Amino acid sequence: METYILSLDQGTTSTRAMLVDRSGNVHGVVREVLSLHYAKPGWVEVDAEHIWQSALNVIREVFVQTGVSPEQVAAMGITNQRETTVLWDRTTGVPVREAIVWQSRQTATICEQLKSEGYESLFQEKTGLLIDPYFSGTKVSWMLQQSKNVREAAEHGDLLFGTIDSWLVWKLTGGRVHVTDPSNASRTLMFNIHEMKWDEELLAILDVPANMLPEVRSTSEVYGYTDTEWFGAAIPIAAVVGDQQAALFGQGCHEPGDVKNTYGTGCFMLMNTGTEAKKSEHGLLTTVAWQLNGKTEYALEGSVFVAGSAIQWVRDELGLIATSAESEQLAASVDSTEGVYVVPAFVGLGTPYWNSAVRGAAFGMTRGTTKAHFVRAALESLAYQSKDVLNVMEQDSGIKLVKVCVDGGVVMNNLLMQFQSDMLGVTVDRPYNQESTALGAAYLAGLAVGYWSNREELRELRVIDRLFVPRMEESHRDELYSGWIKAVRAAIAFA
Ligand code: G3P
Repeated sequence: METYILSLDQGTTSTRAMLVDRSGNVHGVVREVLSLHYAKPGWVEVDAEHIWQSALNVIREVFVQTGVSPEQVAAMGITNQRETTVLWDRTTGVPVREAIVWQSRQTATICEQLKSEGYESLFQEKTGLLIDPYFSGTKVSWMLQQSKNVREAAEHGDLLFGTIDSWLVWKLTGGRVHVTDPSNASRTLMFNIHEMKWDEELLAILDVPANMLPEVRSTSEVYGYTDTEWFGAAIPIAAVVGDQQAALFGQGCHEPGDVKNTYGTGCFMLMNTGTEAKKSEHGLLTTVAWQLNGKTEYALEGSVFVAGSAIQWVRDELGLIATSAESEQLAASVDSTEGVYVVPAFVGLGTPYWNSAVRGAAFGMTRGTTKAHFVRAALESLAYQSKDVLNVMEQDSGIKLVKVCVDGGVVMNNLLMQFQSDMLGVTVDRPYNQESTALGAAYLAGLAVGYWSNREELRELRVIDRLFVPRMEESHRDELYSGWIKAVRAAIAFA
């Protein structure tokens, strides 16, 4: 009987399930789109129950569509949008309120307060992160501050905290297992990435009771089994991993210096730094890549908050294109943006600016600016933001990059990938199978149950689809990029 690994990829805007075979081929992707809520400017929230239902739906449907039975699943891996914060009742399983999404800015005041109290270097030393609303810690504090009942329930030990991985494992195991892994824990602002444990001092500063926190287990091991109520069979859950670290693993970036860039809702460039937790001086994050076979490996990360969602915005809010794919054709209908820049700082800016007050802006329009120029400028903003990240990554690592592996929804856009290579001045390597995130989770789960035996075997499964090499004159690149820097500075000045 053929067996498979089930990969569940719970992202910001959608939940997807797929089955992966021994050759790394993906069977029957099923996707469900999620609705996010924007209750106030800068806020982004989602119903955790809706996420759970979507997970159930896509997994059930992938079995129906492929004809594969749950008994044929050797193990399941979960990869997830990171930082998004859920608090729920440990008895009833009911979330206390909507989950706060990683992009949400509602804890900006708490962050300013912590910074004014001088805590920034303490948090950076211990967690590798900066104080920013992006991370889970202040989101938990905020939820506990909102209601006396919630605070009391938390103090009483009635509530559980989790990022989406913990929430889904808890639901899938029928409330029996409350765990996370270091790749997710390292995004919470509460986890000491050197000692590899929840940090009591930070918990006290954030005023978060330790009894709410999940147990931190390795990235690749069997944590428990799905309750037979859901799929009939008890499927071993054998990996949980943050989606960006999963993509790093799935791209085969297993050696120090290997870099990948994923274009999803946001855009995240990670460099593997091996067993060294390298401290950044330029606004990158130090994060756990994975803990595997007793060994912890780290990464340097540049986080861009708005990437694919800028394309969604020109499609859904401005109505300039009907489908995201149309953006390539429209952008290609003009030779350049003719000096137009879009800075999609809808929820502030991450690496290297870390400014939560700045908002989106567009510059350089003339009466002759068409929607093609504007859409092209929105697309190019993904490449410019990645260039901002690559610059500081080279400074922090002391490594001059020659290649970046890419994945995510937008990488089929050849125009953007060529522009990205031109802008970065490096080879952009697009694999044939662009499901790097889902593959990463599948591979980590497969390793835990002996479906694959080692990383070498996994790296051999990667096939290159296309290499983009820089073609643009350096002087032209510098001129375009300096326009971007001017635009960002002006947007920041306006905030
Ligand atoms: O840190 C946020 C990140 O994990 C979200 O990923 O794929 O939903 O853009 P994505």
